[in-house]
Amino acid sequence: MTADIIDGKAFAATIRDKVSGHVARLREEHGITPGLAVVLVGEDPASQVYVRSKGKQTVEVGMHSVEHKLEVDTSEADLLALIEQLNSDPAVHGILVQLPLPDHLDSDLVINSIDPAKDVDGFHISNVGLLGTGQKSMVPCTPLGCLMMLRDKLGSLSGMDAVVLGRSNIVGKPMAQLLLGESCTVTIAHSRTKDLPEVVRRADIVVAAVGRPEMVPGDWIKPGATVIDVGINRIERDGKTKLVGDVDFASVQEVAGAVTPVPGGVGPMTIACLLANTVTACCRANG
Ligand code: GUN
Repeated sequence: MTADIIDGKAFAATIRDKVSGHVARLREEHGITPGLAVVLVGEDPASQVYVRSKGKQTVEVGMHSVEHKLEVDTSEADLLALIEQLNSDPAVHGILVQLPLPDHLDSDLVINSIDPAKDVDGFHISNVGLLGTGQKSMVPCTPLGCLMMLRDKLGSLSGMDAVVLGRSNIVGKPMAQLLLGESCTVTIAHSRTKDLPEVVRRADIVVAAVGRPEMVPGDWIKPGATVIDVGINRIERDGKTKLVGDVDFASVQEVAGAVTPVPGGVGPMTIACLLANTVTACCRANG
């Protein structure tokens, strides 16, 4: 069996087209332009790439983009003051503080200072609580993108066995909540899980979000399963820098029913969902 490749890049382009349409209508019919503010503290190279890409795509769909690049030694008080200013700016509908933050800043405190209605990452404790109790919330972009690909590929997920590898607040935990909301039987596996290959082998759906290059081989995968690879790992191979996921694509492709590639799978979907969340936040703010 050779797995279908789930084309996240093409799917993300269709979402961006829909977002562009919504943005145009908001402007023409209501005179409103959705705005997204992205805050980057420090000069982490990977974060700089993501932030640049977010800004570029925000402008491409017709939205207003604000970027705040702060020095690595910015004080917590200064960062909180900036967030307060963005919270009360009516032209800003979404606020994203790029993670990870430098060690001297308390990420929880910073994230929880964002107005929950503008928290397009869905990381604020009240959005986490709303998602966990099945209420309307801002849904974290990466898990939302994964869910959209799964629903597109599989239709109803009801009753399926899903294994989420990784228990981060950004991906693993919200992914598990979303799959539970789809009536999957959900297991969250992590570094202390016993018999990990056996656990993964039971799954109809595998979402790998551990940040370990090519950790999941094909012989952990149930034949025909759908595999979503959230990992974006830079490795050196044959003297070149290469991007690989958390699954060993070559061997998984021979067993799975469908798999997302890296790059071109989950990554583009995350930014597309961020743009969609910003439009949602804008619409809710304007009734
Ligand atoms: N760093 C890695 N992924 C993310 C994300 O989805 N949002 C933010 N704010 N930071 C990240």
